[in-house]
Amino acid sequence: MTNYETLKKEIEALHDPYFEKTLSETKGLRKLVVGPTGVVNVEIALKYIDGAKEQAFRIELIKKVKVELGFPGIKMEFVINDYVPAGEKKINYIGIASGKGGVGKSTVTANLAYALTRIGKKVGIIDTDVYGASIADIYEIPNEKPTGTSEDLMVPPKSKGVEIISTRFFVEGDKPVMWRGPMLGKLLHSYFYGVEWDQAIDYVLIDLPPGTGDIALDIQKLAPQTKMIVVTTPHINASSVALKAGLGARQIGHEIVGVVENMSYYLNTCNNKRDYVFGTGGGKLVSQKLGVELITEIPLSLPVKGSLYEANEPTGKIYDEFAKRLIDLVE
Ligand SMILES: Nc1ncnc2c1ncn2[C@@H]1O[C@H](COP(=O)(O)OP(=O)(O)O)[C@@H](O)[C@H]1O
Ligand SMILES: [Mg+2]
Repeated sequence: MTNYETLKKEIEALHDPYFEKTLSETKGLRKLVVGPTGVVNVEIALKYIDGAKEQAFRIELIKKVKVELGFPGIKMEFVINDYVPAGEKKINYIGIASGKGGVGKSTVTANLAYALTRIGKKVGIIDTDVYGASIADIYEIPNEKPTGTSEDLMVPPKSKGVEIISTRFFVEGDKPVMWRGPMLGKLLHSYFYGVEWDQAIDYVLIDLPPGTGDIALDIQKLAPQTKMIVVTTPHINASSVALKAGLGARQIGHEIVGVVENMSYYLNTCNNKRDYVFGTGGGKLVSQKLGVELITEIPLSLPVKGSLYEANEPTGKIYDEFAKRLIDLVE
């Protein structure tokens, strides 16, 4: 059996098969403990932890520790490594939360993504709303499927420049979805670790399901760097639930970027006045209580075509400003 220092050096000399760099370069050796009986306990962070290359890495590690260095056993744990190689940029994960359904979370996610691409960002969306996945419909690709790479990663379908991964792709037609916890966990895992986004991806927006429950916790585990945008309507009922969602997200460690008030008003084109159909104050209240910015107020309006507002529509312009402000806040 070798000593601890040599063991550490040998493990750190192994290559992360995805980054193609040594663990010492990627700071991928997160924990190394040798137990009283000589069993080695390691936690290793790799770029991805799904797929064939991870399997090969495991075997290499076991061989190194047990066969070459003579330790009697090894316990391994793998986590994701958010290391960003010099000269490369990091992905900004932004979760869109609301606590309540029907406030326009998916609409906001889809249109924010679209606006970000208009100003030159490369954007992906993960639609985690398993029971009401609507992003693929908004982007008019409900029947597409991701394709696979030789490394077992999913390549997301793309529409209007936005790459999309959605639970919609994994269910048949209009069948209701009855996911059991473990299945859902696996699916989410593959959304975060099993997707090959565009090489130059800047933003991944995550459309979260209503509520503050399991999925929020899963996301915290899978992508702890995710920052949150809280969506509310002006109505007091929606705002109190949105506030809870925001506080919940913060409690488990997410930074809240800001609040968006959707369906804020209806612009009456007869007199150019704003009608506050759902009351006022929800967005302001939530942003004050969370101590973050009210980033934008989006009016009630229908896009000219489909569900996405174009740059030449008034609401499209509001989304452009929203996208720019988001960039200022997170980059
Ligand atoms: N600003 C808006 N103006 C008009 N309709 C909207 C607006 N925001 C959302 N909607 C509509 O409201 C409904 C619910 O929105 P959706 O984005 O699906 O909510 P959620 O994802 O929070 O459940 C959809 O039919 C959507 O088209
Ligand atoms: Mg939705």
